[in-house]
Amino acid sequence: MIVLGIETSCDETAAAVVADGRRILSSVVSSQVAVHRPFGGVVPELASRKHIEAIVPVVRQALSEGGISQAGLEAVAVTQGPGLIGSLLVGFSFAKAFAMVRGLPWIGVSHLEGHINSVFLEPDPPAFPFTALLASGGHTSIYHVTAHTQFDLMGQTRDDAAGEAFDKVAKMLDLGYPGGGIISKLAQEGDPTRIPFPRSYLDRSSYDFSFSGLKTAVGRYVRDHSRDLAARIPDIAAGFQEAVVDVLADKVIEAAIYKNCSRIALVGGVAANGRLREKVTVDARKKGISVYLPGHDLCGDNAAMIAAAGYHHLANGARSDFDDDVYSRQAL
Ligand code: KG4
Ligand code: ZN
Repeated sequence: MIVLGIETSCDETAAAVVADGRRILSSVVSSQVAVHRPFGGVVPELASRKHIEAIVPVVRQALSEGGISQAGLEAVAVTQGPGLIGSLLVGFSFAKAFAMVRGLPWIGVSHLEGHINSVFLEPDPPAFPFTALLASGGHTSIYHVTAHTQFDLMGQTRDDAAGEAFDKVAKMLDLGYPGGGIISKLAQEGDPTRIPFPRSYLDRSSYDFSFSGLKTAVGRYVRDHSRDLAARIPDIAAGFQEAVVDVLADKVIEAAIYKNCSRIALVGGVAANGRLREKVTVDARKKGISVYLPGHDLCGDNAAMIAAAGYHHLANGARSDFDDDVYSRQAL
């Protein structure tokens, strides 16, 4: 089944053509980062307008790069939520209209389910069940995944998402937006042990996260060392990153052990973090657990993962219809 995927939940306009939920024929991502950078974060109204400008060219490009005509498509999958309502509406309304005028089956997909399915676009995907850490700008959660469309939430952040913490720390240090990539690059030049930032494990038996204390600690350090901050930035970046990575790695490995699971997948924008990938892989191996990592392009928001998740719903006979609408939040 050849599925057109569409994703517009935040600040990326994306379209992809994917065969059978596994094989990417094309994946186009048009980023709005340059538009939002001067504001230090995503401006929802600007994001919606940019999606409207980009959606038709991005879909056209995905079809042409995939070598598929509109008539060659067999179904459409689109992000239904969670995300920014105005942004979601652009992709969702486009997909609804596009599918309905062509009489194609179509399905609204959870963005989170999309991220989890991103590992199936790699050549060697995990068997079920596996433990997934989803860490992005909006979410930090651990799931026990038993099928493409079935997950149990084991824990989630009680305050900031991991990616959000990276973005906020980058902002405190005046490093630009989005912060994840910038901080991880600077961290390579720093010593992660020089500044001992706190690790919040909450209750050790819980798989919940909290990053607000760490963020406050970095803020206090920045304030107390304002006179010679520049020279300390690599150590701050490295110390902060190590604190986030330690907690994420320990919790996802403990969650896998608790579920007797020998496979872990890291997904979402923060899964592009080199130190996180390395630490989880090394520590999990010592416990006999294999780690599955989507390529960097599949960690950040993209439409191939939406087409992949949508395919499994469509194959199970699920369909969206005319009355369906987007949603901003999701309890999953
Ligand atoms: O999945 P994603 O593209 O969008 C959401 O669904 O939120 O994730 C974006 C988040 C941003 O907060 C960004 O700073 C973070 O992922 N990120 C990273 C890295 N690359 C992107 N965080 C840490 N290290 C990275 N290398
Ligand atoms: Zn995302």
